[in-house]
Amino acid sequence: MPESDTIRLDVEDGVATLTVDRPDRLNAMNVETLTSLKEALAEAEAADAHALVLTGAGEDAFVAGADIGYMQDLSTAEAQAYAELGHEVADAIETFPAPVIAAINGYAFGGGCELALACDLRVASEDAVLGQTEIDLGIVPGWGGTQRLSRLVGDELARRLVFFGERVDAQDAHEMGLVGDVVAHDQLDDYVAEMADDLAAKPAFALEAAKEALNQVHESDQTAGLRYERRLWSSLFGTHDQREGMAAFVEDREPEFE
Ligand code: COA
Repeated sequence: MPESDTIRLDVEDGVATLTVDRPDRLNAMNVETLTSLKEALAEAEAADAHALVLTGAGEDAFVAGADIGYMQDLSTAEAQAYAELGHEVADAIETFPAPVIAAINGYAFGGGCELALACDLRVASEDAVLGQTEIDLGIVPGWGGTQRLSRLVGDELARRLVFFGERVDAQDAHEMGLVGDVVAHDQLDDYVAEMADDLAAKPAFALEAAKEALNQVHESDQTAGLRYERRLWSSLFGTHDQREGMAAFVEDREPEFE
């Protein structure tokens, strides 16, 4: 696998793990890191990963945000290019053709929280702290946070988090629906690995279709979304995994998916 200095990609048994590896900056994302993450997502897709885990290196941070030192003196045009790159990466996560789990091992602020929001599922260490903290830097979330946050936690809470830039611990994040699970810090890797293995063992085409259909909720009105679901649902009939999954049930045996 190609390596960059700040992004590591490991693929094992159908599970790809992407680690943001810039611990001296608490894994803050500069242009190079974002670009490498985008390339690594394409590599993971080419490697036919059936589940993907996104996490941060070190004990302290998932991703402490966009790189504030880099952003400090950006012009409007430069800031726009940086926002576009951040959006491309978040979109690539959201449309990755397999489930993506954020293993939130520490600080997830600003752009780090937004990368987690673009994932399908979020598991946090009990030591994690999350927040859309941009307001105190004189800016707003710029990598999709204003749109993706409210779908998870609801409009009222999203406004509170964005307006106050509040930093919430993992338990509070769980209570507000920002993360799905909270686990002991030293259990996080094993817990997420087991989740990813379980997903990788599921029928890949069906999972991809499920993700695509669930993503439609945010792309269209409900009528169009329901039509989309019907089309995707019927398109799975005739695939190996549909035939095998149903045959195995009828024959009372374990399925063997492709
Ligand atoms: N961008 C650039 N550098 C960052 C960073 C970011 N988002 N977050 C942390 N760093 C750097 C710090 O400048 C520091 O560098 P230094 O060692 O050269 O001084 C290093 O990472 C360690 O951070 P430090 O602040 O010393 O650690 P801490 O444990 O005291 O605090 C945080 C950790 C995450 C609470 C604090 O760094 C912080 O609030 N970061 C900004 C978070 C933020 O607002 N992100 C949103 C950006 S859009």
